[in-house]
Amino acid sequence: MAFAQTLNGRLRRVPTWPVYLGLTLPFLWLVGQLFTGGLGVDPTKALEHEIGLWGLRLIVAGLCITPIRRITGVSLLKYRRAVGLMAFFYVVLHLLVWLLLDIQLRWDEIWADILKRPYITLGMIGFTLMIPLALTSNALSIRTLGAAAWGRLHRLTYAIAVLGAVHYLLAVKAFPRDPLIYLTLIGVLLALRLPWIRRRLALRPA
Ligand code: HEM
Repeated sequence: MAFAQTLNGRLRRVPTWPVYLGLTLPFLWLVGQLFTGGLGVDPTKALEHEIGLWGLRLIVAGLCITPIRRITGVSLLKYRRAVGLMAFFYVVLHLLVWLLLDIQLRWDEIWADILKRPYITLGMIGFTLMIPLALTSNALSIRTLGAAAWGRLHRLTYAIAVLGAVHYLLAVKAFPRDPLIYLTLIGVLLALRLPWIRRRLALRPA
């Protein structure tokens, strides 16, 4: 506990901009790979996959913040907005790669895919649910909505995480080992929020 308090004291002095900057690096690295031929024979697919994965990783990272606080006392709450907004940034880029490079704005195919391919439908629902969260990730929205309503709205993250992971599960063609790992991790992170599990594990309040 003393360790958590010391760490929290140090973290209070660390601003959020290095988090935004650090989380932009995977994108810059991928752009570099794209222009140097490091993305293999199908760079569009590779870019789509890598950027989609970063979106999902950051959604999961955002879900870790409350359990870390409850289990260890270390508070990363200050960085949650940065992680969430960067997750949105990667999901928007993932969607743009699909629209512009993969399907190349062939609108009839776009609509057909959204309506007929379950993994695209789920991805699209996940993306749509992220929009209100991104738009209200600011202090003014918390004040306008009130903390309780804002908190309820932001529970959409749970649905987004499940939709993102199931979308991944349905998108991969080989044995879905990694999607199953993500789904299990998300299941554990959501279970840790259930009141009776929190009571059983004697976790700290949020
Ligand atoms: C919450 C939102 C989303 C998340 C977290 C997400 C994440 C992912 C992940 C992790 C993959 C698999 C990468 C791999 O194959 O290794 C993927 C694949 C893909 N996603 Fe998404 N995605 C999201 C939304 C969308 C949306 C809105 C679209 C387009 C409408 C989309 C289109 C695709 C496509 C086309 C693939 C590649 C499937 C293939 O291999 O052919 N995704 N996504």
